[in-house]
Amino acid sequence: MSNSPFEPTDPPDNSGMRKGLTSYGDQGFSLFLRKAFIKGAGFSDAALDRPVVGIANTGSAYNPCHGNAPQLIEAVKRGVMLAGGLPMDFPTISVHESFAAPTSMYLRNLMSMDTEEMVRAQPMDAVVLIGGCDKTVPAQLMGAASANIPSIQLITGSMLTGSHRGERVGACTDCRRYWGKYRAEEVDAEEIADVNNQLVASVGTCSVMGTASTMACIAEALGMTMPGGASPPAVTADRIRIAEQTGAQAVQMARDKLTIDKVLTPDAFENAMRVLLAIGGSTNGIVHLTAIAGRMGLEIDLAALDRMGRETPVLLDLKPSGQHYMEDFHHAGGMATLLRELKPLLKLDAMTVTGRTLGEEIERSGPGFKQDVVRSARNPIYPQGGIAVLRGNLAPGGAIIKQSAADPKLMEHEGRAVVFENIEDLVMRIDRDDLDVTAHDVLVLKNIGPKGAPGMPEAGYIPIPRKLARAGVKDIVRISDGRMSGTAAGTIVLHVTPESAIGGPLAFVQNGDRIHLSVANREIALLVSDEELARRAEAAQVVEPSAERGYKKLFLQSVTQADQGVDFDFLRAPKMVGKVPR
Ligand code: FES
Repeated sequence: MSNSPFEPTDPPDNSGMRKGLTSYGDQGFSLFLRKAFIKGAGFSDAALDRPVVGIANTGSAYNPCHGNAPQLIEAVKRGVMLAGGLPMDFPTISVHESFAAPTSMYLRNLMSMDTEEMVRAQPMDAVVLIGGCDKTVPAQLMGAASANIPSIQLITGSMLTGSHRGERVGACTDCRRYWGKYRAEEVDAEEIADVNNQLVASVGTCSVMGTASTMACIAEALGMTMPGGASPPAVTADRIRIAEQTGAQAVQMARDKLTIDKVLTPDAFENAMRVLLAIGGSTNGIVHLTAIAGRMGLEIDLAALDRMGRETPVLLDLKPSGQHYMEDFHHAGGMATLLRELKPLLKLDAMTVTGRTLGEEIERSGPGFKQDVVRSARNPIYPQGGIAVLRGNLAPGGAIIKQSAADPKLMEHEGRAVVFENIEDLVMRIDRDDLDVTAHDVLVLKNIGPKGAPGMPEAGYIPIPRKLARAGVKDIVRISDGRMSGTAAGTIVLHVTPESAIGGPLAFVQNGDRIHLSVANREIALLVSDEELARRAEAAQVVEPSAERGYKKLFLQSVTQADQGVDFDFLRAPKMVGKVPR
């Protein structure tokens, strides 16, 4: 009996197939049963005795950004086996931006719960997280942070760029640009159909510095990917090699018990904030980073982010702030080139998944070379970080603007509010010829915050009213409590907190009110007295949205505001233990 391979060991072994045994009241029987079932799939005892590496498979016919998942899984498995481990892939939710109603953000927390619980429930000594499309990488990092096992992120990689009548195009900055031209009647129905064939030239994530590319760079800056893991396009040999290396490294992490809490430290988050600013990253990046940090009990200090922004120039010349695409960034050396340039501003002792520090990895990446995608700190794309944090009576909990993608002429602006109560109201009226609007006005969209829509959709990129677009207006100040795609550009104030649906001041803006925006002073002000605002609040009697059942009920009861990452309150660490930066 004592020699039985199924009995508990002394000291207890909680690794490999013995990890997290199903409760039958008899541990020996639990292991006996587990092995019997897995042997039904043809596994031998020799295979089952190896360290187990789980591979979160987010391949889905609904997610072309993860269309290379089968090739990546094959390469990860090869890497795991070469390093002496046993690869076990398992499915989780996969979320694509264009195939998720009402919005992918509504499902991010659900995906993070799926990831956390399946990582926790199934026996694995380390996990490889395959993610790429906007919400998938943050969801996986949030879930893995809470599960706290050795974890390594594998990015699916960006799509290739296409060509329209000799012009290079890629999703999704060019999607918006061409759609804007179509709305302004500068291109016809035939041409817009041609463009539609060219914007996404292969599987993979959006090819500009949208949220997916931002989160890929942030994942590498956090130390959560193999060095160089952010930039290889989805269909390249480099991407497949990174996948193989990721599998091998996951085995090493299992052996070294390099759990995610050793990587996701305050220093790692500070490095990620620097990188977010220096790449002109998506405004969504700050929401996701806040949510991931919240799982570790860390608060992202928005005021500090703004201070860091004033001393961190945008160095990466990628659309929408610049001109290149992700594949160009990869050819320019990827994150190593950027990190080398940012080195004086980074916390070099931060640990990474390789077991080496970020500083050591920068040294190992070798010398730089001549390229024109990552600028030097002396010759930046934009002198300050891409994101500025605004405050004022319209946003007591803060709001943000991507200043690197805004029109400099509008960054100090006062205008008359033209208010839309919700998305339906916007859709109904924005293109009407009798809409009372001029290019000097400020478009205000309410009820697209975390609870309002719900799910804080990327509707903050309010389209230019058609009659202004036709007249050649390219930008106008826009304000909402929602988000905006990282691929979009314009003078757009987002994430106004608290949101209007829970009675934030935005709820009480009326047509004709004056609004003052000063990016230099980091201020967004509604020029209405406190007394008048209080009177309007009293008269409005805001009732918060609710639902009778299901995930929507859970969502509306639990979702936090943008300044807490739009995570569910019960998923954040029970106690906040520190701030970033320290
Ligand atoms: Fe998936 Fe853009 S839609 S990354």
